[in-house]
Amino acid sequence: MTTVTSSSTPSITVFPSHKVASINRNIYSGFTEHMGRCIYGGIYDPTNPNKELVDSHGFRKDVLEALKPLDVPVFRYPGGNFCATYHWQDGIGPVKDRPARPELAWGNVESNHFGTDEFMEWCKAANTEPYLCLNFGTGTLDEAMAWVEYCNGTKDTYYANLRRKNGHPEPYNVQYWALGNEMWGPWQIEQMTQEAYAARAVQWAKALKLLDPSVQLILCGKEGATTWDYYTLKHCLQPAGLSDLGEERLPLIDMHSIHLYTASEDHYENVTAPLAAERSIEVCSGLIDLAIVENKIPALQKRPTICFDEWNVWSPPRAPGSKGAEELYTLSDALAVAVWLNVLVRKARDVGMACIAQSVNVISPLMTTETGIIRQTIWWPYELFCRFMKGHTVAVHLACESYTGSTKPDWVRAVKETPWLDVSATVDDDGWVSVCVVNMHLESDMRTVMGGVGDQKVKVYTITGSDANATNMAGKEEVGLKESDWDPARDATFVFPKCSITMLRWKSS
Ligand code: AHR
Repeated sequence: MTTVTSSSTPSITVFPSHKVASINRNIYSGFTEHMGRCIYGGIYDPTNPNKELVDSHGFRKDVLEALKPLDVPVFRYPGGNFCATYHWQDGIGPVKDRPARPELAWGNVESNHFGTDEFMEWCKAANTEPYLCLNFGTGTLDEAMAWVEYCNGTKDTYYANLRRKNGHPEPYNVQYWALGNEMWGPWQIEQMTQEAYAARAVQWAKALKLLDPSVQLILCGKEGATTWDYYTLKHCLQPAGLSDLGEERLPLIDMHSIHLYTASEDHYENVTAPLAAERSIEVCSGLIDLAIVENKIPALQKRPTICFDEWNVWSPPRAPGSKGAEELYTLSDALAVAVWLNVLVRKARDVGMACIAQSVNVISPLMTTETGIIRQTIWWPYELFCRFMKGHTVAVHLACESYTGSTKPDWVRAVKETPWLDVSATVDDDGWVSVCVVNMHLESDMRTVMGGVGDQKVKVYTITGSDANATNMAGKEEVGLKESDWDPARDATFVFPKCSITMLRWKSS
């Protein structure tokens, strides 16, 4: 996207035939961790007294129904920080025999009533693909290989047979496996130095790809623009001597995971914060290239991409993890999430997968109660992007004045422009153009000259509310989605209301 600061009427010109990157729909993936009420009471609720809400597997039917139109491509599981002490074999076999264990990441007791086979069954019900995160804390390579064999094994081997014995004759074909989670964090059981992590990750990656060359491995990065990211990419991307593994096992590392949560009580800091993620993606993409250059890796069939497998608005002091992290989202947060999603679309070339953290109850767009569900404010941009922003990112020219106040982190405006309108645009395979415009201004509607729209009727989807602090709670849902039409042949300007998200859609000729 090209942006110029302009004090005249804002303008947005979309170039639907100028495709900039193909969008991997995996950028709209989800995340379900054994944390708070995400699994128990969220996607799995067998003891709910309202029997009609729960199916024969104990899954919440209303959650599955709500997720259906989003067609979420992948769900990450079982954590997060939870992974660092999780032994997957505790969660298979007859439920009555499964051990309850102390859970150290969030201070709970883990019953292990929901485990690998239940998650795979849920993925089938949700029509989605699983992405599993390995225990790099107290886990061993043996255990990790056994999990891959249990999920994907087709031969007459112990763990493949154990899966069959547990009632699952067909392999689950789990493609995505993460080499640990946030191993750099002081909160992590068995926190590691970058040197120790990189040395271990390479050995695990080699063994896992020898066991099953079909797996895609995700390296544990940090925020994208850090020394940890540089070091781990440099040492793990494709260390010398590994070319003998065979082409089908290369690159050794398929994606590099980064995480970022943004939040501020100040609206403008809140909505501009996701631009820090945009710069982090740009820097991290450069680090991937740097590792390729410094390691003299010959042209890879597949350049590794970024897996932004935890992103969202989250303020831990406001919604502590130990208390289930149930954020109550505002309209301001919905705008921030729309900016986050614009970032992922603009950076589609570099991002192979992204997972909103998380998908139910824990820092989530979707909440359950004993009697039903609530769509939080951030649900609406997430739904619109999942449904419409697919195919290719297309070029956009934006001329607009910029916000010039404080940002969080404060370096955002040192490295990014912060126009009042934040924009991304796509064209799908059927020729539908979708443009998402966030007007972050709290006081000014923005009459904007729209270019590249043509003269056919445009569908308009608007998300706004009475003020930036509006929320959605049971019985009082203040922020929703309104649909209307706009006829650009009658007026080539469009007014983006203050503090709103607008998606415009038309069929290109
Ligand atoms: O998503 C909540 C937690 O945030 C995850 O468990 C952890 O990876 C991150 O710190």
